[in-house]
Amino acid sequence: MSRKLIAMITGTGHAVPEKILTNHDLAEMVDTSDEWIRTRTGIVERHIADNNKGTSDYAVRAAKEALKEANLAPEELDLILFGTVTPDMYFPSAACFLQKKIGAVNAAALDISAACSGFLYGLSLAEGMIASGKYKNILVIGAELLSRITDWTDRATCVLFGDGAGAAVVQPSDGEKGIIGSYIKSDGRLWNLLNMPGGGSLLPPAQAKDNPKAFYVKMEGREVFRHAVTLMGDAASRVLKEAGFTGGDLDLFIPHQANLRIIQAIAKRLNIPDEKVYVNLDRYGNTSAASIPIALNEARKNGRIKPGNLILAVAFGAGFTWSAILFRI
Ligand code: ACO
Repeated sequence: MSRKLIAMITGTGHAVPEKILTNHDLAEMVDTSDEWIRTRTGIVERHIADNNKGTSDYAVRAAKEALKEANLAPEELDLILFGTVTPDMYFPSAACFLQKKIGAVNAAALDISAACSGFLYGLSLAEGMIASGKYKNILVIGAELLSRITDWTDRATCVLFGDGAGAAVVQPSDGEKGIIGSYIKSDGRLWNLLNMPGGGSLLPPAQAKDNPKAFYVKMEGREVFRHAVTLMGDAASRVLKEAGFTGGDLDLFIPHQANLRIIQAIAKRLNIPDEKVYVNLDRYGNTSAASIPIALNEARKNGRIKPGNLILAVAFGAGFTWSAILFRI
């Protein structure tokens, strides 16, 4: 039996920096090639933020687009949930910077630290907050400047990431559209496979000053790949099954954009044909929490998503964290 629809997405937006870094540019910086990056990851180019910008600056542009589409004034927002692991500052939250910049003076604002799953965690939490009856107009952001924590001398990681921001306004469902199924999960036992060791209470800047690499993304690529395929596939199957759907019922599948081979492996397991899989990592790389809201907004604005379509989004990131959300939009 299908469950009552509680929350729906009423507006989306995204923004990326203007500057583009191509695989050919990277081949001049580290020992790599366009051919290696394309065949191993599917990435061709990525956007890189200006030096004087913070993550919230790009989130502002995404948020304004989403609010405009939802026909909502910033003052009407009662909650901002901001998925990021690259906030403007350690504190206050990126959500508070965004709140100030858009003038959402009546909202509570907080960050969600769930790495690449941050946006889907935000959607799931937004649904719960609307179900509580206390919140009606929620802005969910996924925004990241991974270029700030990328080791540009490490070819194993620097070819993967890009910068960007995406946003969605979440409001009570109209009964037809909305979140049909959701699943969020974490496994902190696997923290060591993907992290940034420096800057926190365990290794504060003063103690890490002789170890600048502590402030960069550290990743066991092969292990991350293996877990990403299995756990995103499990989450997607679970949410589809609980709602009584199969991969074939989807109008569009929006997976986290980390690696084309990961996306293809999951789509194959779920029997989703290529034409129903949204891929834009060739142009953006892995933008972590921003990857799904950027893809969602692009797909809506370029006509790949039509009103009433059934969409499944899945994400996986450091923690490990992972999530799947099934919705009609
Ligand atoms: N250019 C050329 N050669 C390279 C490069 C490069 N950019 N990077 C690695 N290599 C080499 C390696 O040194 C290795 O050489 P060796 O065999 O001589 O030792 C060889 O290529 C193969 O390396 P692998 O790591 O086994 O390559 P793999 O096929 O696994 O691809 C990759 C690596 C692309 C990183 C893949 O493992 C991957 O995508 N993992 C998942 C990453 C991910 O999804 N992260 C998401 C989370 S990010 C977040 O949460 C912030």
